[in-house]
Amino acid sequence: MNQSSTDVASRLTEPAAMVEAYLDRFLTERTLPQNLANAMKYAVLGPGKRMRPILVVRCCEAVGGKAEDALPPAAAIEMIHAFSLVHDDLPAMDDDDLRRGRPTLHKHSNEAMAILAGDGLMGLAFELIVTRVADSKLAMSLIEELAVGTNDMVAGQVYDTLQDFDDSLAPLDRLKLIHRHKTGALLRASCRMGAMCGGADEQTLANVTAYGDAIGLMFQVVDDVLDVTQTTEHLGKTAGKDIEQDKLTYPAVMGLKESKQQIESLVAAADKALSGFGESAKPLRELCDYLANRTR
Ligand code: IPE
Ligand code: IPE
Ligand code: MG
Ligand code: MG
Ligand code: MG
Repeated sequence: MNQSSTDVASRLTEPAAMVEAYLDRFLTERTLPQNLANAMKYAVLGPGKRMRPILVVRCCEAVGGKAEDALPPAAAIEMIHAFSLVHDDLPAMDDDDLRRGRPTLHKHSNEAMAILAGDGLMGLAFELIVTRVADSKLAMSLIEELAVGTNDMVAGQVYDTLQDFDDSLAPLDRLKLIHRHKTGALLRASCRMGAMCGGADEQTLANVTAYGDAIGLMFQVVDDVLDVTQTTEHLGKTAGKDIEQDKLTYPAVMGLKESKQQIESLVAAADKALSGFGESAKPLRELCDYLANRTR
């Protein structure tokens, strides 16, 4: 990355520190068994990119809201994401030993704790919204959004892990079903919750949703590409894992070149969704490029 793209990246990812401090405080103040609190902090506050909370904050700002108003759902969705990663890495799922350059939670602690910390993070995410969002109508909408996103993510993990599809479904349709659910759903919910906190009207929310859907699918296509193009050391998670486990991925179904074209066309779709927004959505356009070109 050159100097100016480093600057863009650090400006775009600015909300991460605010969300991390918020999460740290929440998990410290909440009364929990010490070993459980430690496991949750290990999972949530490890060196991740915080893309979902950043999207919540940036979508809130893009529709005219303040970053502070978006912090509860931003923190909540990062807890759901962390839970999804902890369970994704379990022996019964992807059976991974490395996450974010460190041992996965079930290796760092043990399997029972990884299962329970994941379960607990899901509950705490909803508790955080209920206890921190004063406007009860908004809180209800955020809870619905987060619940749908979480359940769609779980459905996606079922498609990905158990591969139990209708015979009539073509490989590319299976792939879209997996990716839009396991990864797209939480990115879509991130964007929508941010827009809701910023008081978006119906049309604006629909446009933000279209942006979220495009970057949601794009995010997992990039993840699939990185699995076959980057090293374990650079990624901080095991490279080559998808082929080893015979996963249905974009490179496996359509090859690397066409996967990269798919990324480009999803970037175009995300840009189009923002065409009516003007300057306020500049960070969302830049984030989209950043996500398309990331290498880890
Ligand atoms: C990894 O997500 C799992 C997927 C949904 C592809 P991220 O790439 O956002 O992981 P972290 O949070 O930065 O570690
Ligand atoms: C993970 O997909 C999706 C969720 C955790 C919901 P992957 O299995 O491809 O994610 P990584 O590559 O392990 O991060
Ligand atoms: Mg997986
Ligand atoms: Mg995995
Ligand atoms: Mg992957």
